[in-house]
Amino acid sequence: MLEPFTDSLSRPLIAPSILAADFANLGTDCQDAIKAGADLLHVDIMDGHFVPNLSMGPAICGACRRACPDTYLDVHLMVSDPQFFFKPFAQNGANAISFHIEVMKSEQHARELAQEVRELGCNPGIVINPPTDVATMLPVIEDFDLVLVMSVNPGFGGQAFIPEVLEKCRTIKPLLRPNQRLEIDGGINPTTALDAIDAGVDLLVAGSSVFGKPRSSWGDIIESLRGPKTTQIRSGT
Ligand code: DX5
Ligand code: ZN
Repeated sequence: MLEPFTDSLSRPLIAPSILAADFANLGTDCQDAIKAGADLLHVDIMDGHFVPNLSMGPAICGACRRACPDTYLDVHLMVSDPQFFFKPFAQNGANAISFHIEVMKSEQHARELAQEVRELGCNPGIVINPPTDVATMLPVIEDFDLVLVMSVNPGFGGQAFIPEVLEKCRTIKPLLRPNQRLEIDGGINPTTALDAIDAGVDLLVAGSSVFGKPRSSWGDIIESLRGPKTTQIRSGT
């Protein structure tokens, strides 16, 4: 299985979001995305409370695990009470479990939940929404393997990229260790991906720009999301 938290990442990683897949053919879509060159899969969980939409539960994560036994599964919890869902997703094959800074009661709360995710054998991630001040997240980023900057307001796939969030990426990147990933999620296509990579992002989520396109083009799209071959990963300080 891919180890996304290596010190020496040689190229940006691409994580298609299964939210945009054909749920009637989910297993095949997951397998074909990996065959087309995707590095991992992103699994979007919505509770109808933190965001105004419902998506899927742990059983769907388990279905992805069965379809792709060796694929890294990156679970993004857009939920008001993330702790409640850690165990069910860990038991259903999640490798990373990310939750939002907006639902943390304190820095200590965020740190404790990161530790709980680790104790379940998963990599913890912390997520920030476009309107949230990046300063709220900075004190806790060292406790997480993954820092996820939302580039749309979460709840729906297919929205337009919000370029103002790139400033957050530029602030966060120099604070990360070489084995922490900076992830971006929402409105990523081959054009916005370039701006994100330039701002220091090294893990890109893409839903509609992969699964929303003809299957025969997925390989080329995934490759173009990584940017030009000459693109170097920006290292932190
Ligand atoms: C938004 C989700 C995203 C979404 C990305 O609530 O967190 O992962 O699926 O979809 P696109 O790439 O279509 O914006
Ligand atoms: Zn997501």
